[in-house]
Amino acid sequence: MADTTAAVTYGSYLKIEELLALQQPRSEGPEHDELLFIVIHQVYELWFKELLHEFDRIAALLTADETSRAQHTLKRVLTILKVMVAQLDILETMTPLEFLSFRARLDAASGFQSDQFRQIEFVLGVKSEQAIRRFSEHGRARSALETRYHAPTLWDAFLQYLAREGYNVPAARLQRDPTTAPEPSPEIQEILIDLYRRDVKNAELCERLVDLDEGIQEWRYRHAKMVERTIGAKPGTGGSSGAAYLRETVGRPLFPDLWAIRSRL
Ligand code: HEM
Repeated sequence: MADTTAAVTYGSYLKIEELLALQQPRSEGPEHDELLFIVIHQVYELWFKELLHEFDRIAALLTADETSRAQHTLKRVLTILKVMVAQLDILETMTPLEFLSFRARLDAASGFQSDQFRQIEFVLGVKSEQAIRRFSEHGRARSALETRYHAPTLWDAFLQYLAREGYNVPAARLQRDPTTAPEPSPEIQEILIDLYRRDVKNAELCERLVDLDEGIQEWRYRHAKMVERTIGAKPGTGGSSGAAYLRETVGRPLFPDLWAIRSRL
């Protein structure tokens, strides 16, 4: 019998036809720069998807006490973050007037409504019930956010791991409510100071978590600056005050204990 299955090709495997049909400008013409705007957002959403995939892996590896593989995966995440920050340079080649040529066609659309970005925040401990309610019930985004809202954060997986490594993590910290942000903890800070002084393997892991925290803050800072140079003090399409709102989100650490110990080491 003849084999009727078509051979896999570059195009069929990567769904190139479908992929190239997904960029649909809304402006008349369309305006030249709208394609860049769409492509860059879609690329970010793909990186967000990959980051979530890798964060789940890091949590699973920590839970399996596979420290060096967890660290290896964390290194990948950090490399992706560097690329994500660098990509903002491309968008900064778009002038305020070029953006204005199609901005009105965005209506209320804004990165503010990216559920994958909120999922990343949830994994990293920035939890918000309000953020979930913005998405329609029973949809993919809503159910993904609900699951991540109730799931332990990366910091929780790290504390559980430290307890199994023999550190005296207080029970209250191990059983904390995962729907809240991790609060700074003097007890955890004592543990971390001790760890940094005598446990090279885990101090390395902590440093990679600091890199991650700094990388997210770097993205927030660069995005806020890009917004400021593109739309100045105008409100955002998502309904916030714009650059002023974004500035407030910059500089808030994800893992405050890892920052607090620096002045005591
Ligand atoms: C010219 C380009 C851009 C402008 C002018 C812009 C503007 C803004 C503004 C004003 C906000 C605040 C919320 C609002 O009221 O809309 C915001 C939020 C946000 N934007 Fe952008 N943005 C741009 C590009 C991007 C890109 C390429 C991404 C990548 C996905 C992105 C992701 C986000 C995210 C995730 C938020 C929510 C941040 C938070 O709530 O902490 N933005 N953006």
